[in-house]
Amino acid sequence: MSDFQLTRTLDEHSADTALRADVRDGLTRSPKELPPKWFYDARGSELFEEITRLPEYYPTRAEREILLGRAGEIAAASGARTLVELGSGSSEKTRHLIEALPALETYIPVDVSESALRGAAQTLLAEHPGLRVHALLADFTRPLRLPESAGPRLVVFLGGTVGNLRPPERAAFLASVRAMLSPGDALLLGTDLVKDEAVLVAAYDDSRGVTAEFNKNVLAVIDRELGADFHTADFEHVAVWNREQEWIEMRLRARSEVLVKIRALDLVVPFEEGEEILTEVSAKFRQEGVRRELAAAGLRLTQWWTDAADRFALSLSVADGPEG
Ligand code: SAH
Ligand code: AVI
Repeated sequence: MSDFQLTRTLDEHSADTALRADVRDGLTRSPKELPPKWFYDARGSELFEEITRLPEYYPTRAEREILLGRAGEIAAASGARTLVELGSGSSEKTRHLIEALPALETYIPVDVSESALRGAAQTLLAEHPGLRVHALLADFTRPLRLPESAGPRLVVFLGGTVGNLRPPERAAFLASVRAMLSPGDALLLGTDLVKDEAVLVAAYDDSRGVTAEFNKNVLAVIDRELGADFHTADFEHVAVWNREQEWIEMRLRARSEVLVKIRALDLVVPFEEGEEILTEVSAKFRQEGVRRELAAAGLRLTQWWTDAADRFALSLSVADGPEG
């Protein structure tokens, strides 16, 4: 790999400190919860890729359909020389954008999963030997320092991952994206749309049990990293549509009363039978809500595209204001 660089803004020590704090805080509160970013060790990243190929998990296919149909328009609107992707994962769909951007020089994928960043860079550089790939191992909810690169920049956040942030976290995140944009730059945002409950629940509780394994992977991460003794068989995967909040909740429900020891925290966590850990919310959106949240962060929605079945949307926005 010739033009590849990886910058770690997360060293092992700070990741370990953050995991300890999140686990202690999340498992000693009621109801219990864990942040979804801890799903994504190498195994979690692989399981997510498997999810994207499941018949029930429509978001990836719907978003790819929009990207394939609109890549030319997106490229013409942005003219980007730098593409920044937050939560880039395998960068699999991003390839359609990279192919459509004639002036593109630098791709900056940002992710907490080092295996995903390295795997994606390897594939992309084999296909685009002239591209410079500067990966950032970083948490996109924390302040980001992007490497120097030429404008205009297109910042992309695909997959509907914005829906994994709670509304206050989302507002702060969008404001931080706004702060990254200079005049001429743009944000391309993928949002999954509100739809029939049965379709949504099936997408998060597939018949092959891959999503269940992905959900339980967070317990395997805590066992390995913090010397805990979670047994995944003691927990059941649950996916519920929260109609009021318009989000899917993934939870892990204790099948019986269980005591879990977490050696690195010197902590014993009791679970009653049926007690749950909320491991992820995945919010679904409507156009007006997206427009409103973008506007509140100082971003103006300029384009809105959906797939033919109206399941998923991609929006383009620019920094608001006289120069935006
Ligand atoms: N964008 C890809 C991957 C989506 S999966 C797609 O559309 O298919 C979500 C990705 O975001 C994973 O690769 C995960 O490792 C990453 N991620 C989750 N939380 C993160 C955080 N706080 N900071 C950086 N990356 C994060
Ligand atoms: C990454 N993110 C958008 C996925 C989602 O659909 O919320 C994560 C996921 N959780 C269960 N399946 C997929």
